[in-house]
Amino acid sequence: MNIPTPFTNKTYALGDGGYYQIRSIQADDRERIIELFNHLSPDSRYLRFAHAISKLPDDFLDDILHLDYKKEMALLAVITSLTGTEEIIGIARYVTPPNQNACEFSLSVSDNYTTHGIGTHLMLDLIEHAKKNGLQEMIGYVLIKNSRMLHLVSDLGFQTHRQDDDPDFKTVSLPL
Ligand SMILES: CC(C)(COP(=O)(O)OP(=O)(O)OC[C@H]1O[C@@H](n2cnc3c(N)ncnc32)[C@H](O)[C@@H]1OP(=O)(O)O)[C@@H](O)C(=O)NCCC(=O)NCCS
Repeated sequence: MNIPTPFTNKTYALGDGGYYQIRSIQADDRERIIELFNHLSPDSRYLRFAHAISKLPDDFLDDILHLDYKKEMALLAVITSLTGTEEIIGIARYVTPPNQNACEFSLSVSDNYTTHGIGTHLMLDLIEHAKKNGLQEMIGYVLIKNSRMLHLVSDLGFQTHRQDDDPDFKTVSLPL
């Protein structure tokens, strides 16, 4: 059995003198994930989930908090207040279907913290982690109108493909 390589926490400057940390998700992050979702605008929720949702489904939260680390990972961008309270400002995740070596990613950054490079850093760390854990490809499904996300992944070297059966989406892929 392969033993998953753990993620080593990283710290990045936020640009305003502050900093954030990227760490792997923990079982007690449930309320903080809900808070992050509450800080996403309806438009950002739509771009992330490809449909309008007003509440994170419980089974989504259960899945994300109990990962199979051999094939899955969720990294969080987190800021810590002076009193030690953590706020999650971004999340990147991959899951790998059974018997496959290509994982599928998703990404969200709090609307209050976009354009600081957080999405890019989350993706770079997620890609590095997937490589270390033996995955061979990372793919994603991005709404065609999500030009910011398409731009972000293109800068990271992902190739973009049309989806003939669903013209609303593009498939993006990166060999690892
Ligand atoms: C798409 C999304 C993840 C981008 O996250 P982000 O943290 O803003 O991404 P980044 O900051 O890394 O990059 C975005 C842009 O900010 C720019 N940027 C990066 N650091 C910056 C800084 N310090 N100052 C100003 N701009 C900066 C980047 O160059 C990039 O610009 P570009 O459009 O010219 O490439 C975020 O907007 C989001 O969560 N959207 C809603 C959900 C979604 O669409 N998810 C994807 C589903 S597949």
